Amino acid sequence: MADITFFVEEPDGQRTPIEVPTDMGLSLMEVLKGSDYPILATCGGMALCATCHIELLEGHANDPTDAELDMLDTLFNTTEQSRLSCQIRISELSHGAVLRLRGETN
Ligand code: FES
Repeated sequence: MADITFFVEEPDGQRTPIEVPTDMGLSLMEVLKGSDYPILATCGGMALCATCHIELLEGHANDPTDAELDMLDTLFNTTEQSRLSCQIRISELSHGAVLRLRGETN
C-alpha cells in the first residue's frame, strides 16, 4: 500500500503534514474533513457548493472537470491555483503537495 504525505498551509503559515493511503478511492475533500478541517461539503462532493475550495500551492493533481471549472467560475475569490478538493483524487495528488483552504471565506 502506498501512502503519500501532503501539507496544509495554516493561516499562520505553518504547514501541517497529512499522511494518507492512495488506494482507498478517497477525494481530497474527504481526507480534509476526516482531518477535522472546517469544510462543509454541503453538496457531498458533487462540485455544486464550492465549500471545499482550496488553492493547490505546490504539486499537481488530476485535471479539473468541466463541472469543477464551471463552479470555480462562479466564485469571486479564485486564483489560478484554485481547485475544488472534492474533485481531486488522492490517488492522483502528488506526494509533497501543499494546499491552503479557501472555502470558509466564500
Ligand atoms: S463538496 Fe461541494 S463542491 Fe466540493
